[in-house]
Amino acid sequence: MERFAWKGNIYHTNEERKIEIFENSWVLCEDGICKGVVKELPEEWKNAKATDFGDKIIIPGLCDLHVHAPQYTYRGTGMDLELLDWLEKYAFPEEASYSDLEYAEKAYSVFVRDLRRSATTRASIFASLHVLATEILMEKLEESGLKTFVGKVNMDRNSPDILRESTKDSAENTENWISESLDKFKNTKPIITPRFTPTCTDELMEKLGEIQKKYGTPVQSHLSENPSEIKWVSELCPDTDFYGEAYDKFGLFGGENRRCIMAHCVYSGEEEQALIKKRGVWIAHCPQSNMNVASGIAPVRQFLDNGLKVGLGSDVAGGSSLSIFRAMTDAVMCSKLRWRLVDSSLHQLSIEDAFYMATRGGGSFFGKVGAFEEEFEMDAVVIDDSALYTPKKLSPHDRFEKLCYLYTDAKIVAKCVSGKMINLN
Ligand code: GUN
Ligand code: FE
Repeated sequence: MERFAWKGNIYHTNEERKIEIFENSWVLCEDGICKGVVKELPEEWKNAKATDFGDKIIIPGLCDLHVHAPQYTYRGTGMDLELLDWLEKYAFPEEASYSDLEYAEKAYSVFVRDLRRSATTRASIFASLHVLATEILMEKLEESGLKTFVGKVNMDRNSPDILRESTKDSAENTENWISESLDKFKNTKPIITPRFTPTCTDELMEKLGEIQKKYGTPVQSHLSENPSEIKWVSELCPDTDFYGEAYDKFGLFGGENRRCIMAHCVYSGEEEQALIKKRGVWIAHCPQSNMNVASGIAPVRQFLDNGLKVGLGSDVAGGSSLSIFRAMTDAVMCSKLRWRLVDSSLHQLSIEDAFYMATRGGGSFFGKVGAFEEEFEMDAVVIDDSALYTPKKLSPHDRFEKLCYLYTDAKIVAKCVSGKMINLN
């Protein structure tokens, strides 16, 4: 039995999306599982490895439910276009360069290093359509100790020649890659990844649905992100009433034994939200990307009030920042603009709502993840926020809010995933 205890100012959210704060307390871990938070170390834990982090902040690891690893190279550039033109001008040509494995090796080293050093402990990641480069990414992620899902992307139409597979190759390559990588790694697992409906024929979607059924692999894609995209999908799929049906009719939209993440849902209406709820689909809310490629503002308050499952995504390179702290504050800020300018009936999000989505909301996709409750997996990040010092006396709540907005001035000093330490160098 392996036990350790960390002391500090511990923050997490409860099921009701309220922050719970335990000042100067111990969080206990046994064999990778959290054993709760206590004020004094119990007698039977006196022999456990105990680390006192003093006045530092301890939070659950943050979860990134949607990020494109090959796009990390051009993050922070190409901010002049809307989604479909942006894909054609920036995303597709860059992703095509991952047929070059030397390039993939270099680019994915940087991506994984930066993710490892961040406050993120878990992520669901899009690679490119190249199997060999995707395997390089998976090996690097496994080495990092983070727990992730990685998707070889599928595209067999409406894509440039340099970034398109035949239907047959796309399906066969996906099945071979899944069967080979299912048990290859402990912490890095495959996820079926049709890029989005416009780049996948019905025939391919049907085959991906069959592969999903055969292997029970989870699924991720994009949904209702941008008005031109949604109009295009309705033309490509005249038999559907709304976008979500274009995945659902192939068994690629959640349901029993079918974990599924759909990114964005900016324009998901009543019917689509009802199906998202019925099928238990996780929504990856990606506010920075939604602003950068001018998609819009998702009605996240409505999702939460209606009991939909919502996590946060960086959506690099639609989003420029890999930080989920940044996604949290962006979510709060753009919800205020939505409230003021679009729909005054949907009140702004709070920092609590954002913290919940970044931890428990996204974490539930990975299992019992995202809180320091007993039987949750022990994902924790220890943060030194002393550079944010001010002579003003801050409440523990204000101190946390300040950290979220000014995280770039703080320093991560320790991080573990399922109780295993992550190298931060
Ligand atoms: N829809 C299809 N592909 C993409 C992508 O790479 N990024 C975003 N934001 N949306 C997409
Ligand atoms: Fe995306």
